[in-house]
Amino acid sequence: MLIRKAVMSDTESIYQLISEYAKEGKLLPRTYPSIYENLQSFIVAVLDNEVIGISSLTILDRNLAEVRSLAVSPAYVGKGVGKALVKQIIKETENLEITKLISLTYQVEFFSKLGFSRVDKNELPQKMWKDCINCPKLHSCDETAMFIDVLPKG
Ligand SMILES: CC(C)(COP(=O)(O)OP(=O)(O)OC[C@H]1O[C@@H](n2cnc3c(N)ncnc32)[C@H](O)[C@@H]1OP(=O)(O)O)[C@@H](O)C(=O)NCCC(=O)NCCS
Repeated sequence: MLIRKAVMSDTESIYQLISEYAKEGKLLPRTYPSIYENLQSFIVAVLDNEVIGISSLTILDRNLAEVRSLAVSPAYVGKGVGKALVKQIIKETENLEITKLISLTYQVEFFSKLGFSRVDKNELPQKMWKDCINCPKLHSCDETAMFIDVLPKG
C-alpha cells in the first residue's frame, strides 16, 4: 500500500467514498467543487492502482489543523489503512510546524488508539466552526472533539 498526495484523477474515488459514508451519516458530504478546491489537502491510500482510503488536512489557525474526510473502503476496513492515513496526516501537520491537530468524530476509540484525547468542543476556537455553517447538524452536533499535540521537528 502506498500513501501519497491526491491528484485530479483520484477525485471520483474521493467523491464516491465520502458520499457512501455520508449516506450513513458517518461523514459530512462534500461536493466536487469542494474536493477540487481542497485537492491539495487530500492524501490517498492506494493498493493495486485502486484508492482504498482517503483523508484531508485543513489548516484552521496558526497552531491548529483538523483531520477531515477520513474514510477507508469498506473492503479494507480493519487492516491498518486508517491508522496509516492518520499517521501521515500527523506527519504533515508536523512538517507544517502546526502544533495541534483535532478531529470531530464518532470514532473515539480509533482516535484514542492513535494518541488523541477528548476535548470540550466549547474550548475550541471560533475558527473551528467556520465550515459547520454548511452542516445539517449545525445546532445538534453530536460528534466528539479530539486532539493530539504534535511535537515540532528537531
Ligand atoms: C474509522 C475508519 C477510518 C478506521 O479505519 P480502519 O482502517 O478500519 O482502522 P485501522 O484498521 O487502521 O485501525 C487502527 C486501530 O483502531 C481500531 N479501530 C478501528 N476502528 C475502530 C472502531 N470503530 N472502534 C474501535 N476500534 C477501532 C483497530 O482495531 C486498530 O486497533 P489496533 O491498532 O489495536 O490493532 C474506518 O472504519 C472508516 O472509514 N469508517 C467510516 C468513515 C468514518 O467513520 N470516518 C471517520 C470520520 S472522523
